Amino acid sequence: MICLGIESSCDETALALVRDGLLLENIVATQEEIHALFGGVVPELASREHYRLMGPLYDALLQRADIAPEDIDYYAVSRGPGLLGSLLVGVNFAKGLALASNKPIIGVNHLHAHLLAAGIEQPLIFPALGVLVSGGHTHVYKINSVQDFTVLGKTLDDAAGEAFDKVGKMLGLPYPAGRVIDMLAKRGEPTNNKLFPRPYIDNDNLDFSFSGLKTAVSLYIQEHPELMQKFVDVESANQALCNVCLAFNMAIVDTLCIKITRALEQQKVKNEDVQCIMLAGGVAGNSLLRERVQNLALGFNKKFIAPSLNLCTDNAAMVAYAGWCYAQAGLVHELGFEAIARGRVIPEDWQYAKN
Ligand code: KG4
Ligand code: ZN
Repeated sequence: MICLGIESSCDETALALVRDGLLLENIVATQEEIHALFGGVVPELASREHYRLMGPLYDALLQRADIAPEDIDYYAVSRGPGLLGSLLVGVNFAKGLALASNKPIIGVNHLHAHLLAAGIEQPLIFPALGVLVSGGHTHVYKINSVQDFTVLGKTLDDAAGEAFDKVGKMLGLPYPAGRVIDMLAKRGEPTNNKLFPRPYIDNDNLDFSFSGLKTAVSLYIQEHPELMQKFVDVESANQALCNVCLAFNMAIVDTLCIKITRALEQQKVKNEDVQCIMLAGGVAGNSLLRERVQNLALGFNKKFIAPSLNLCTDNAAMVAYAGWCYAQAGLVHELGFEAIARGRVIPEDWQYAKN
């Protein structure tokens, strides 16, 4: 059974094939260089690039996998959340393929696909505590099965990745800044780890608010203009910059770990204990975060599940894999399903296939 996955929710145009749960082929074309010129994603440019690349990448994918269009049994596409113009390119391309081939299609929640991505490499275990940390979202879920996700908490303002990118911009680092801050933090001296606050923890909920942390870094930069030397590369960056990156990275990681610990404790009290922690999304590639959440899971006697680094950031392997899972569960969409822009709830409006 072959599932084609399509991803175009933000600034990566990606297509992948999963056969019987295993990754067959995976192509990602990133637009990072285009958007780096503007210090963030420009929606109109993103849609145009998706539109330009989608057809040629589809041809290249089939050629690389050495399969014909009629070998594809099921289509899966990220339907949101994301940039509407970008999503529409992928969703309509997938609908066209499904219509022409008379094969089933499913619209996938991009955030759920991030969390399911680890299933490509290792068995998923449910119930799980899902922690999705990406450029646009920071969500904590209770996950009971591939299609049963309940949001326990989320960010009230900036997402964790957004905080990385905005702080990186203030420090004159290239966009997207998360990976660079991660690398600079490794060279930081842990002298002043409490330089920045652990925001929004004095409550009993599982929500986040990272915008105050961003302001704290901004004020610190204003007081320390020596930080603003032109960034050339990680190796030649000055020590003060590396120290700030470490202090900021620690603040984000501590905050996430405090809320993950709280979530595990709350689930236990409710007698709804989870078996594992699933960490996913672009920020799940952060070395400090991975290490700390892995240790946290160990301390709670839970399994730790996270995709390898190349499957943390946006890709279509996760969409194809999620699609394959939904096909096994017998789920399909009618062709009229909608693309859902960021900010709207993604409906669970699938149907069960008639055999
Ligand atoms: O999941 P993703 O590819 O896109 C969204 O769906 O948003 O996440 C991209 C985000 C960016 O904000 C990027 O800076 C961040 O993930 N990121 C990282 C790292 N690698 C990517 N943040 C911290 N540390 C990293 N190593
Ligand atoms: Zn994403």
